[in-house]
Amino acid sequence: MKYRHSFHAGNFADVHKHVTLLALIASLQRKDKGFLYLETHAGRGLYDLHGADTHQGAEARLGIGALQAARCDRPQVAAYLDALARARGNANAASAYAGSPVLAALALRAQDRGVCCEIQAAECRALERALRCYPRMRCECVDGYQAIGALLPPPERRALVLIDPPYEEQADDLQRATDGLGKSLARLANAVVALWYPIKDDRDTGPWLERIAPRLPVPALVAELWLHPRDARVGLNGSGLLIANPPYQLDVEMAQWLPALGAALGATRQGGSTVRWIAHEQH
Ligand SMILES: C[S@@+](CC[C@H](N)C(=O)[O-])C[C@H]1O[C@@H](n2cnc3c(N)ncnc32)[C@H](O)[C@@H]1O
Repeated sequence: MKYRHSFHAGNFADVHKHVTLLALIASLQRKDKGFLYLETHAGRGLYDLHGADTHQGAEARLGIGALQAARCDRPQVAAYLDALARARGNANAASAYAGSPVLAALALRAQDRGVCCEIQAAECRALERALRCYPRMRCECVDGYQAIGALLPPPERRALVLIDPPYEEQADDLQRATDGLGKSLARLANAVVALWYPIKDDRDTGPWLERIAPRLPVPALVAELWLHPRDARVGLNGSGLLIANPPYQLDVEMAQWLPALGAALGATRQGGSTVRWIAHEQH
């Protein structure tokens, strides 16, 4: 495997995914009962936006950089920016970008716990260092899809699963991620599962969503944000999240803040955003 998330850290897709992740955690925390946060594809947790690894934050300039310059006033965006500032403070690294394991770790309460899986040993060692000051989150150097079988159902009977593969091979990764989603729900029917997917060409993601939607056993929605026309040949046109068992009112709240986030990231010119149910719409 050659994939290094460093090149993409803090880009618009990371911003979309991470704002949504924190909004999901906040929704789950409306109940006192603790939950397991399980991340199947974790990355290294912290990325230096001034370093060579991130190409001096080239992609981040159009992501977190654009968002900070735009001053979006939505509470979900403010919560994300606040978490990023705290992660930077804890790491004593003002130019760091915090990946999902660190952002989630910051949000976990005493009654919650998290497990992050990363298959590449060097990335996993870096993740271990990044998580040192977050005792609620541990990392494992294992295949995240196998961890689903090992860790679900958890004793808490509540879980949030994030599936965020590298998509080096788009069709294979989409299939494996779909299987991971199905396996999570088979092991814990009420699990909230967020599956990230890239929007590079609608001719790939459109038929995939149409194929899996009728087979989903639980309510599910998709939240998509794109900066370029959805069939442009620029590489990554947009960012999508399929969310199974979305918490109550998440769709209503997202319909408010996702367009504002998209506008802050420059999605107004050729881009856009959508939140729509694909299975068992809830009212
Ligand atoms: C897109 S990155 C994760 C980014 C991270 N979720 C974030 O938002 O900060 C995908 C990561 O998954 C790792 N990976 C690939 N296949 C895996 C597998 N089967 N199990 C666990 N990790 C895997 C890669 O090494 C890479 O670091």
